[in-house]
Amino acid sequence: MDYVVSGAGVTRREVDSAENRRASRDWWDLDADEYQAEHGTFLGDVDLVWCPEGLREADARLLGDVAGKTVLELGCGAASGARWLHTQGARVVALDLSAGMLRHAQVAADTTGVRPPLVQADALALPFADGTFDIVCTAFGAVPFVEDSARLMREVNRVLQPGGRWVFSVTHPMRWIFLDDPGDAGLVAVHSYFDRLPYVEHDDKGVATYVEHHRTLGDRIRELIAGGFTLTDLVEPEWSPGNEQIWGQWSPQRGAIFPGTAIFCATKP
Ligand SMILES: C[S@@+](CC[C@H](N)C(=O)[O-])C[C@H]1O[C@@H](n2cnc3c(N)ncnc32)[C@H](O)[C@@H]1O
Repeated sequence: MDYVVSGAGVTRREVDSAENRRASRDWWDLDADEYQAEHGTFLGDVDLVWCPEGLREADARLLGDVAGKTVLELGCGAASGARWLHTQGARVVALDLSAGMLRHAQVAADTTGVRPPLVQADALALPFADGTFDIVCTAFGAVPFVEDSARLMREVNRVLQPGGRWVFSVTHPMRWIFLDDPGDAGLVAVHSYFDRLPYVEHDDKGVATYVEHHRTLGDRIRELIAGGFTLTDLVEPEWSPGNEQIWGQWSPQRGAIFPGTAIFCATKP
């Protein structure tokens, strides 16, 4: 492994749930303004965009007909997805761990006049009764940021009704073998696909400030099945023509060659 640990830096190591939750909450609180400034226009005020490739729910319809359905958006960030779902006739709740991100959701609610209820909570301990929702979804929220994603699958299953849908997008597991670089350097495999140790950024005392978790495709499928789901699709969006947006390691150059996002579509039998 080529990560260097001295002072503040980056490493791969185990992280317990308390350190993980603290790092995630603080990171997204601090990063909220920058994230929204950088990506807010691409994500739109009232739109559900699944990924940097530009796949939109208005076209993909991975959630099916949402009119009249109760929907939970996890890791909603500024909640543009929840607002779009609301305009489609769904009864939506938008949930996030970070007050900083939810502050942007509140501002956008005031700007657009579309106001799904906002809840601050950890996706690993959802404050809802069993069987509350018809649909749970997230675009890159919560799933890659919790240490126990198998538990998250069980928790989502608990709050869904039988027949309910669970759709989530994450960084495509393939991407974990490459550097986080949108250009040529990001085309060379350097990390083991099989290394599940979390990616950790830490301060100069070694305390985690950002944590992200890798699961292989097989891991994700096994966690879904163990969580009580049936996998119905695995969508690997292709780069949208005309999308020139570089989002971190996502770029037209890499998007033309290999997938950057995996969208898991599952149902609760
Ligand atoms: C990459 S952002 C995605 C935000 C939004 N879905 C979007 O498409 O822009 C990840 C979001 O997940 C949230 N998050 C991280 N860990 C979480 C957890 N344990 N429970 C709920 N939300 C969490 C973060 O606060 C952040 O808003």
